[in-house]
Amino acid sequence: MTDCWRLDSFNQTLVLAGSGGRLPCVTYWGAPLPKGCDLSAIAAAEARDVTGGMLDANPSLSICPEAERGFPGQPGLSLRDASGRVLRPRLRLLDVEAEESTLTVRAGDAQIGLRYAAHFAIDPQTHVLTLWAEIESEAPVILDWLAAPVLPGPQLSDEMIDVSGRWIGEFQLQRMPWSAGIRMREARTGRSGHEHFPGLILPGRGATNTAGAAWALQYGWSGGHRMLAEELPDGRRQVQFGHASGTELEPVTHAATAPLLVTFSRAGLNGCATAFQRHIRDRVVTWPAPERPRPVHYNCWEAVYFDHDVAELKQIATRASALGAERFVLDDGWFGRRDDDTSSLGDWWVDARKYPEGLTPLIDHVHDLGMSFGIWFEPEMINAESETFRAHPDWTLGPMDQIEGRQQRVLDLANPEVRDYLFDHIGAMLDDHAIDYIKWDHNRLLPHPDAAQTRGVYALLDRLRAAFPEVEIESCASGGGRIDAGILARTQRVWLSDSNDAVERLRIQHDAALFLPAAITGSHVGPRQCHTSGRVLSMPMRAWVAAQRHMGFEMDPRELSEEEAQVLTRVTAWWKANRDWTMRAEIHRLDSIDTSVIAEMQIAEASDRFVVFAGRAGTSAQILPRPLALTGLEPDALYRLELANGQDIGPASRGDVALARGAVELPGAYLMSQGLQLPAAFPDTIWVIEGRRA
Ligand code: GLA
Repeated sequence: MTDCWRLDSFNQTLVLAGSGGRLPCVTYWGAPLPKGCDLSAIAAAEARDVTGGMLDANPSLSICPEAERGFPGQPGLSLRDASGRVLRPRLRLLDVEAEESTLTVRAGDAQIGLRYAAHFAIDPQTHVLTLWAEIESEAPVILDWLAAPVLPGPQLSDEMIDVSGRWIGEFQLQRMPWSAGIRMREARTGRSGHEHFPGLILPGRGATNTAGAAWALQYGWSGGHRMLAEELPDGRRQVQFGHASGTELEPVTHAATAPLLVTFSRAGLNGCATAFQRHIRDRVVTWPAPERPRPVHYNCWEAVYFDHDVAELKQIATRASALGAERFVLDDGWFGRRDDDTSSLGDWWVDARKYPEGLTPLIDHVHDLGMSFGIWFEPEMINAESETFRAHPDWTLGPMDQIEGRQQRVLDLANPEVRDYLFDHIGAMLDDHAIDYIKWDHNRLLPHPDAAQTRGVYALLDRLRAAFPEVEIESCASGGGRIDAGILARTQRVWLSDSNDAVERLRIQHDAALFLPAAITGSHVGPRQCHTSGRVLSMPMRAWVAAQRHMGFEMDPRELSEEEAQVLTRVTAWWKANRDWTMRAEIHRLDSIDTSVIAEMQIAEASDRFVVFAGRAGTSAQILPRPLALTGLEPDALYRLELANGQDIGPASRGDVALARGAVELPGAYLMSQGLQLPAAFPDTIWVIEGRRA
């Protein structure tokens, strides 16, 4: 007799089935199944044949595949007892608790005193399933590996897309064919990392951004994950996610995975992307003031670096505010004796040489301009050249003779004394000043991966948030080195990349949108000549790319020409006038036939309006750009489209393109199947097209 359970949302069904007192398997995860359909028939239909070259029955690919049951692939759990002897659990099902939108599976191995639980929850509004697993052991055990509930990899998929990257080049998608054996990604640098965003997409054959089946997963943990996608000798596939292996350095009696967020789409990769965007924004992130519009940021880093001068900063703030900034963020350089990056991390008090009267005069000035004030910390780090290190050399993580990174070491956040110290010093800054925002940086790798460090950071963040609930926090790690749903449960923004090069940013934003919503993705207008690439880019390009996400500025505004200032003011005003819906819009990546065009559509929740951003990241192979097909429209409805930046039509366009002449009204069917003719343009430019249902 087979027991079956199902979880449903509008776009997907997940079925669990089990028999014989064993752990159940996910027998189905995909397009919604009819209500009331016979799940045991589906479980029976999943039974595979047995032939030569295999065992006499197929060991089950359960939610935690067990080595002891002949499973021919990677097990979901690897344990040793405290003396190091391998434990070989044989889990027996204890019970399954099923509610409307949650399932909990409990199992145990009485002989070795082990309990296992798998949790599943489906969110009917966001369409995301959250999965996590935990174990409890009577005696302390060494945990080598614990996977979140294991999912079968789709058979009707040829490849997987995972994410790599680097500093100033985050979110690079890698496509790998499924093949015999294991594709493994493991982040072993103690943070989710530029190199290892913990996400995976499994496109069905032929899936594009806008059509076809796709399965997607992301793991909510900031300490480094392990993903393995394995094809077994019999052709079955499994996907496992968990903390990077062996990062529980001490024996444990309880351990849990982080939440694994997963979703299925019948509407191409965009169906997964928009589910994740909603879920991260509305379920994972907690907003101090959800109704408050996202303020336009000004960040002084690329304007002054460590060279802080109150009079200059005031001037800069005044200019930034005139351009439309609403929050001034004082970056690195305000504390200790921090004149460059060789000293002072850990000394979290105001540098009286630079701020003889403290920060208050600058903060008051910023407030008088109507802006709020944010400040930079890098709490988990310490320079050997600091008072704090001299007083507490034992607070650092790893050996004394370790290789440093940016001349700094990592504090041991598992040590409560260290957390108290940081809470007290950051807390004192927040108590004594009207600060509503922290940019929380993390600029080096850990000397060794360590889950306790991540838990320590989470505990510190949670404590600060409880004590200062009105303060928002941004997660930065040399740009996008710590972006994941774990840190986002404690922060409200990510610094996606240190690259303010709008052409690079266009691409990074495009690919990050597979996992992240606009409202939490910071994007700044950088200096005219980009500091990380040397490229000189026009203000329209820089401003509109920043306006795709949570907008800010990060150049010295005193460098702006009159014309640049006008453009920036205009685009910022556009962003403010539209943010109430764009920051809640779904980002749909467009499948631009013209490979030089990176394009997306932001569609309002009410589906009555949208904006298209079509960036020209290169030159087309043919003379004119190819038409851009839109998505997500009602085929029969009529839409009125208009260029938001008609001023930017330049010398490359001398013909009679309809959009260049004014508004056009076209049916959804035409826009989605034939596409929109864009005016010709130079590379490194962008078209912004507003659309409304007519
Ligand atoms: C990191 C961040 C930057 C800036 C510097 C300050 O590199 O990513 O945005 O804050 O640190 O040192």
